[in-house]
Amino acid sequence: MKLGFIGTGEITSSIVTGLCSSFTMRHSIRLSPRNTAIAKELANRFNGVSISSCNQEVLDHCDTIVIAVRPQVARDVLSELHFRPDHQVVSLVSALSLRSVSEIVAPAVRVTRAVPLPSTAKRLSPTGIYPPEPAACDLFAALGTVFAVESENEFDAMCTVTASIAAYFAFIERIGSWLAQHGIPESKARDYIARMFWGLTASAVDAPERSLQSLTGNHATAGGINEQFLRYLIEHGLLTNVSEALDAVLSRISAPSQSSDVGTAY
Ligand SMILES: NC(=O)c1ccc[n+]([C@@H]2O[C@H](COP(=O)([O-])OP(=O)(O)OC[C@H]3O[C@@H](n4cnc5c(N)ncnc54)[C@H](OP(=O)(O)O)[C@@H]3O)[C@@H](O)[C@H]2O)c1
Repeated sequence: MKLGFIGTGEITSSIVTGLCSSFTMRHSIRLSPRNTAIAKELANRFNGVSISSCNQEVLDHCDTIVIAVRPQVARDVLSELHFRPDHQVVSLVSALSLRSVSEIVAPAVRVTRAVPLPSTAKRLSPTGIYPPEPAACDLFAALGTVFAVESENEFDAMCTVTASIAAYFAFIERIGSWLAQHGIPESKARDYIARMFWGLTASAVDAPERSLQSLTGNHATAGGINEQFLRYLIEHGLLTNVSEALDAVLSRISAPSQSSDVGTAY
């Protein structure tokens, strides 16, 4: 696959790192020149990665084009480019609907939206894809697990939940800080908490037949400390707030034209 990236920032860096660290797949990769520092770093680090002199040169040399610029500039950047009918386009831009991207990249007709995460660098990213074009699915299957969805509403919901990542880190940071305040050295507290949640997440991934609700119940032994902690949070509205916050993010994602400041979904 001749793979080109328009926008060489955080997510492109993660995807290229993941692809180039894999022994099973080999791609020829072209990067757009911005961001120069990141593009140079990737081209120096990995064989098969080169930097084009401009965005159009990326399109001219590649068959699959990943669009990875920020939503605020995406329309302007793309409308200056000339796509070919045979291009496979993969848009990572959260705020552009499939219809909008398709209009801008015409005459290209194979257009897909994807929402990979920085864990693509370790080939551990769950990636939502709509519609599930085979070439796009193959690309992200090499970088983790593909979650193909059948409608744009489902895709927007998947983008929405990626907004919970910072809150997840804030949650475990608070627990780690509490531990440090109780005498555990900070780095040890951090490591302990990260590994505690890592192990729990791994158990959930390894047991797809168990619902998350049943895992919750399993850990919340009646009268035990997990039940006590969970009940406290529920009684203080934490879980209700989670649903409300996701609703608010979804409204913003699915009506980006009413919000000029839609940033990255991640
Ligand atoms: N980060 C994630 O985990 C993630 C996950 C899923 C989807 N996304 C989506 O992916 C897109 C990129 O996100 P990001 O986090 O990678 O953002 P980012 O780090 O800001 O990268 C965007 C890149 O686009 C470059 N750029 C700006 N103007 C350009 C132009 N005219 N031509 C070519 N490149 C240009 C920027 O270069 P300069 O630095 O020189 O301005 C920057 O390197 C966003 O739409 C976001 O919604 C991101």
